[in-house]
Amino acid sequence: MSANLPEDFELRLSDILPQRPATLFSPRSCQTFRINTLKISVERALGCLSERNIAFDRVDFCPYAVIVGKAAAAEIFDSELVDDGLFYAQGLESLLPVIVLDPRPEHRVLDLCAAPGGKTSQIAMHMNNQGTLWANEPVRQRTYKLKSVLRITGTRAAVSSVDGRRFRNPEHQGGFDRILVDAPCSCEGRFLAGEPKSFAYWSVRKIKEMSHKQKGLLLNASRLLAPGGVLVYATCTFAPEENEEVLDWFLRKTDGRMRMVPLVLPGVRTYPCLTTWQGASYDPQVMDAARILPDERMEGFFIAKVTNSDYK
Ligand SMILES: C[S@@+](CC[C@H](N)C(=O)[O-])C[C@H]1O[C@@H](n2cnc3c(N)ncnc32)[C@H](O)[C@@H]1O
Repeated sequence: MSANLPEDFELRLSDILPQRPATLFSPRSCQTFRINTLKISVERALGCLSERNIAFDRVDFCPYAVIVGKAAAAEIFDSELVDDGLFYAQGLESLLPVIVLDPRPEHRVLDLCAAPGGKTSQIAMHMNNQGTLWANEPVRQRTYKLKSVLRITGTRAAVSSVDGRRFRNPEHQGGFDRILVDAPCSCEGRFLAGEPKSFAYWSVRKIKEMSHKQKGLLLNASRLLAPGGVLVYATCTFAPEENEEVLDWFLRKTDGRMRMVPLVLPGVRTYPCLTTWQGASYDPQVMDAARILPDERMEGFFIAKVTNSDYK
């Protein structure tokens, strides 16, 4: 056990992820960038890196991602590649929810918790900036950042600023074909050992507060979903109260009208979801979600795909 992280957190984690990787709470030695295909083709973007003699790795499951070392990342951050919105720094794990969501150009899509906007802009890429895309963020200051990211990346989206639990369908017709709930969470996957700022706001009480809010967000999202639509729920935390418990509550609350779609993520290392936690037991369907195993490339993440009974 390390004295570098809250002791209660360490105790909980030993029941969630018994064999934790040694580098789990150390800074990553690499950085992932998403090539913004709204502004540049993958081929040309890779050419830009080669011209600068920047070595990079490709990613099997994501053709528009590149991974570079820290020094190369600093060079990219300082260049017009980032300033002009051609490259966007986005964790490898954080690319997965949109890949699972699979938005298409003909869809109506809602990003319910959108700032700073990395995933909104990734969604727009999948849609070729067509269809209808709504980005919602209730925190005013973060809405400014969202708008700036959308502008720099050339993303076409309508922006609103309301509590996601009270968001109503703006066009009063049909529902959304795809909804992303990239929920506010306790961010345990981003903790850094020995850096108290990274876990300053962590407490079991905060986890419970988050869980309450996440349930409200997911329930409202399900009401906004079109028949046969897909909803993706994601967090960057390990706490079962914010992951499996939210889904278990949601499946019971929606009384069979919603179900989980098993996730298949080739090339991604996962570890089992929990069906019991501190005396509670969860609907076995929660096993269809994915807990992303943190490693040298990815941070800890949780993703679930949900649909209504009209989904084929
Ligand atoms: C994990 S971040 C989203 C990151 C974003 N999807 C991206 O990829 O750039 C969660 C966001 O939810 C917002 N949020 C907090 N409370 C909310 C609520 N009640 N309804 C909707 N969003 C909320 C937070 O301000 C934060 O910007």
